[in-house]
Amino acid sequence: MGRVEDKVVVITGAGSGLGEADAHRLSHEGARLVLTDINAEEGRRVADECIGEAIFFEQDVKEESSWPRLIEATVEAFGRLDVLVNNAGIAHIANIESAATDQWHDILRVHLDGTFFGCRSAIPEMTKSGGGSIINMSSVAALIGLSSYLAYSAAKGGIRSMTKSIASYCREEKNLIRCNSIHPGSISTPMVHDALERLSGIKLMEQEDPEATRKAMGIGEPLDVANMVLFLASEESKHINGAELVIDNGDTIRQMSR
Ligand SMILES: NC(=O)c1ccc[n+]([C@@H]2O[C@H](COP(=O)([O-])OP(=O)(O)OC[C@H]3O[C@@H](n4cnc5c(N)ncnc54)[C@H](O)[C@@H]3O)[C@@H](O)[C@H]2O)c1
Repeated sequence: MGRVEDKVVVITGAGSGLGEADAHRLSHEGARLVLTDINAEEGRRVADECIGEAIFFEQDVKEESSWPRLIEATVEAFGRLDVLVNNAGIAHIANIESAATDQWHDILRVHLDGTFFGCRSAIPEMTKSGGGSIINMSSVAALIGLSSYLAYSAAKGGIRSMTKSIASYCREEKNLIRCNSIHPGSISTPMVHDALERLSGIKLMEQEDPEATRKAMGIGEPLDVANMVLFLASEESKHINGAELVIDNGDTIRQMSR
């Protein structure tokens, strides 16, 4: 038996990076997957590459109306919902002086609206399934506030506290739904490759040995996060609720203790 055998899992932003790694890791452990993304081509590719059952649903997480349709499609395909991974995200590099209003709103809508709509839509269906696990993708930006990522830090901070509010509510309701946030540091994905190039001119994937450069720079790999998602999706984490799980090999505490 796999660690998440037969669990029905929705993963947003599954067409790339961390969402893609989550899909493969959970698929290997027996999950039945509904993968969503605004990039339909990449989302379908990942669904096709999964070894277990996986379907793709085209979705923009910030569109409220997409959520009831997604939950309906999930129940139609698999009969229940056990796990939601609110992973979809975008990042703009801008500080408090350079941040444009439309970028600010864009970031808040994808991260905060998307996560809010997702949690609110999933809870009734998870309750019918007898409980579940909501996994919200935050960041170390929520814990330290990155100077070049103003809106992103604010949005991820909002996800952190929204997660705790939902965890407390679910505990009060005794609906057996857990809600936790994950806080990765830099992990090697297209989002981080783009940021590295913009901020320091480094093209990680064009280095002679990208893997050696990644390790030397202290950048994690998507599997480091997918392993945590698997743990939170499984019954192994049944007593963990409202937690913030940092995956950064100690970078944040090192910066804070300087
Ligand atoms: N990579 C890191 O170092 C890191 C660190 C901390 C947190 N995160 C978070 O992890 C999540 C995944 O990031 P990643 O690094 O894999 O990035 P990525 O750019 O590789 O993948 C993000 C995916 O989300 C999708 N997406 C974007 N906007 C969407 C929307 N409105 N609706 C649906 N899908 C949408 C994209 O099409 C893409 O497939 C994000 O929430 C990001 O903020 C990443």
